[in-house]
Amino acid sequence: MKKNSEYLLNKKQTQQKIVALTCYDYPTALLEEQAGVDMMFVGDSVGTNILGYQDETEVTMDDIAHHLKAVRRGVNQSYILADLPYGSYETPQQALDNAKILISHGADGVKLEGVREEVVKYLIKHNVEVCGHLGLLPQTQQKKIVQGKKFEQAKELIAGAATLEQLGIFMLVLELIPEELGQIISQNSKVPTIGIGSGRFTDGQVLIVNDILGITPYKLKLAKKYQDYQTLTLDTIEKYRKEVEQQVFPSEDNVRHMAKDELEQLIAWVNQGTNK
Ligand code: KIV
Repeated sequence: MKKNSEYLLNKKQTQQKIVALTCYDYPTALLEEQAGVDMMFVGDSVGTNILGYQDETEVTMDDIAHHLKAVRRGVNQSYILADLPYGSYETPQQALDNAKILISHGADGVKLEGVREEVVKYLIKHNVEVCGHLGLLPQTQQKKIVQGKKFEQAKELIAGAATLEQLGIFMLVLELIPEELGQIISQNSKVPTIGIGSGRFTDGQVLIVNDILGITPYKLKLAKKYQDYQTLTLDTIEKYRKEVEQQVFPSEDNVRHMAKDELEQLIAWVNQGTNK
């Protein structure tokens, strides 16, 4: 069954948590789908997690499109949400043109940061499913500081969430806000909220796949490291290097042979010097 926006809304309404994870490539998409992940975010987090960029501002439409196409090839059921990257939604028309590109490459919906009323309105008017993003906005705030800890800013975030909901977003991501604020916004929202570092009471959770696998070399408070992929990968590559150097790999198990008569014919031909 295709996990569309109605399916995700129904999860909120029936108090089932929505499970989301970032995804940037085909093999991981296959595994995330097999594991039952509801939504895959092809986010601009691809920049720092995969492409070696300094921050999200370096991520381009081409980057998102490239990774999105790979993820799409591995997915049948999960909802694929693609980020409109930094600078790609400066005007409503630019946002629509870029959203259409992402949709043509397999996105079910697009996400953009902040309360960009005209842009959001225009996209929704043209039948694009839009996910809002409030709290920490990595495209414009490089310092990972918790947002909305103070009354005034918390009120602004609540107002922003209400505005986006009125405009017709289908979902709202809340990044790095206090748990209490995540709970208030989620309780007052008719659309599902997905938290990252925003406590236990949002309608769903999203994490960076590199963080849960342990590809990320450090542990973030907002994430949980379920696997130590870094150590596993390093150990594996070192074993491979040693085996090649010590001529343990390839072994008899890994090679293919010619038939005896074919080989004899070849050796005779080489020895006659007819191979010139
Ligand atoms: O860039 C991203 O992947 C995101 C999510 C982590 C919320 O925006």
